[in-house]
Amino acid sequence: MTEAILLVGGKGTRLRPMTVNTPKPMVPAAGVPFLTHQLARARAAGVEHIVLATSYLAEVFEPYFGDGSSLGLHIEYVTEREPLGTGGAIRNVASRLRSGPDEPVLIFNGDILTGLDIRALVDTHETSGADVSLHLTRVEDPRAFGLVPTDATGRVTAFLEKPQTPEEIVTDQINAGAYVFRRSVIDTIPTGRPVSVERETFPDLLATGAHLQGMVDSTYWLDLGTPQAFVRGSADLVMGRAPSPAVPGRRGDRLVLDGATVAPDAKLTGGTVIGAGATVGEGARVDGSTVLAGAVVGDGAHVGADNELRDGVRVWCGARLPDGAVRFSSDQ
Ligand code: GTP
Repeated sequence: MTEAILLVGGKGTRLRPMTVNTPKPMVPAAGVPFLTHQLARARAAGVEHIVLATSYLAEVFEPYFGDGSSLGLHIEYVTEREPLGTGGAIRNVASRLRSGPDEPVLIFNGDILTGLDIRALVDTHETSGADVSLHLTRVEDPRAFGLVPTDATGRVTAFLEKPQTPEEIVTDQINAGAYVFRRSVIDTIPTGRPVSVERETFPDLLATGAHLQGMVDSTYWLDLGTPQAFVRGSADLVMGRAPSPAVPGRRGDRLVLDGATVAPDAKLTGGTVIGAGATVGEGARVDGSTVLAGAVVGDGAHVGADNELRDGVRVWCGARLPDGAVRFSSDQ
């Protein structure tokens, strides 16, 4: 497997920009646009060619990532005129793929932070001879998700809509948003109209007897559907709970980026990121999943967890900001 499709488009409110003109995949996590972590993880797993399928604020991706060479990748960009859904977006970029008909192509959602062992998913795909292999994760409360039960060999037996009653919760396995497709299977997706992989492509494949293999990997997994999840994901990257080769610095309690000034006795904990242009004064304490970028935190101030301070905001000396007090991103 040397190529991948990364899905970063869509139409729903989940894709509303977190900050003005910043699509979610470009919102920084641990100091770099979130997408960088996914691209770097794919590269580390052997991917060389990536097609970025988008329908949304496409013009911000290419100027930043260019041809991908700074990440050791070759990146191509394809923009849908109208959002085509997950399956439609995959089909829409088929002509850009270079793999042979039987070769595996990695496909992943652009809003998931995970420690998935990508190579293991590809190995599972190859040893099982599946048409499509899916990363499945287990969740404590599966009510908000479509369920993916498997048999004793890991073969997918059904795709079930969100369960409405306790009896319908037949498994705690859910689709974790990363797949390996046999290249030729991509060509069977209808063209020119919206298609959902979960609601249409996968159930249709099952109905026609195709082999869909699930790989349960209960490693780190976080759906970045909310701003709070984003801040948590950033902190987990900084602290090394979520693995990524793209974190710009050592793993630890804090990440201080170039261009930031931090007083020697300031206490930074819990995966806090101090961005370029931020100044943290003497005696300041910043703890837990807080992002400071272009912010000034005065001497003796205390900034609690889950705050997001950006763009020239100034916290007065000695002020106390409780947990979750300030956010710049949208509520969606
Ligand atoms: P469908 O399966 O198409 O109904 O989408 P969904 O609502 O199940 O997908 P979800 O919103 O969970 O998005 C999964 C990933 O696919 C995210 O990374 C989205 O950015 C991406 N995505 C969703 N819809 C589209 C689309 O229409 N075009 C592209 N290029 N990407 C999409």
